[in-house]
Amino acid sequence: MNDIRRDSPSFHRNIEPITQKLSEVLPENCSHVLEIGSGSGQHSERFAREFPQLTFQPTEYGSENLDSIDSWCDQYLNVLPAMQLDVMNKNWFPKGSQKFDALICFNVIHITPWEVTEAIFKKWQPMHDGSLSGYFLWTV
Ligand SMILES: C[S@@+](CC[C@H](N)C(=O)[O-])C[C@H]1O[C@@H](n2cnc3c(N)ncnc32)[C@H](O)[C@@H]1O
Repeated sequence: MNDIRRDSPSFHRNIEPITQKLSEVLPENCSHVLEIGSGSGQHSERFAREFPQLTFQPTEYGSENLDSIDSWCDQYLNVLPAMQLDVMNKNWFPKGSQKFDALICFNVIHITPWEVTEAIFKKWQPMHDGSLSGYFLWTV
């Protein structure tokens, strides 16, 4: 059968330090985590396994990785179906969607225009009425 799971070289380089750091910085009362730019979905799969008490929402700018993410994560009930999310969209998150306690984002800000980083920070805060509990951005 055709395996639609993609393999990202950077995943193998950075997954151990990222997982370690996440275990240190995620807030104690954290429940739902939004990931921007989930790529292949390998990070989501590892996080789902490592942090079974948390629910993860993987997202991707384009649609081409969504099947790969879902395929990597299909055995985990704590990973929501991957969704398309472009942070430059005016309404980047539909009203009434799941509230998130933390936002994670790896290998995105250094390869995208500065406006993407600005959009992530500017749009995240109003969603949470100032009750932001954690950011985690990584570039490896
Ligand atoms: C190098 S990949 C990183 C993938 C994954 N996080 C990793 O570490 O393997 C860069 C990511 O930037 C995301 N990205 C680029 N522009 C974006 C935008 N405007 N909104 C949301 N994500 C964006 C893409 O979805 C892509 O997954």
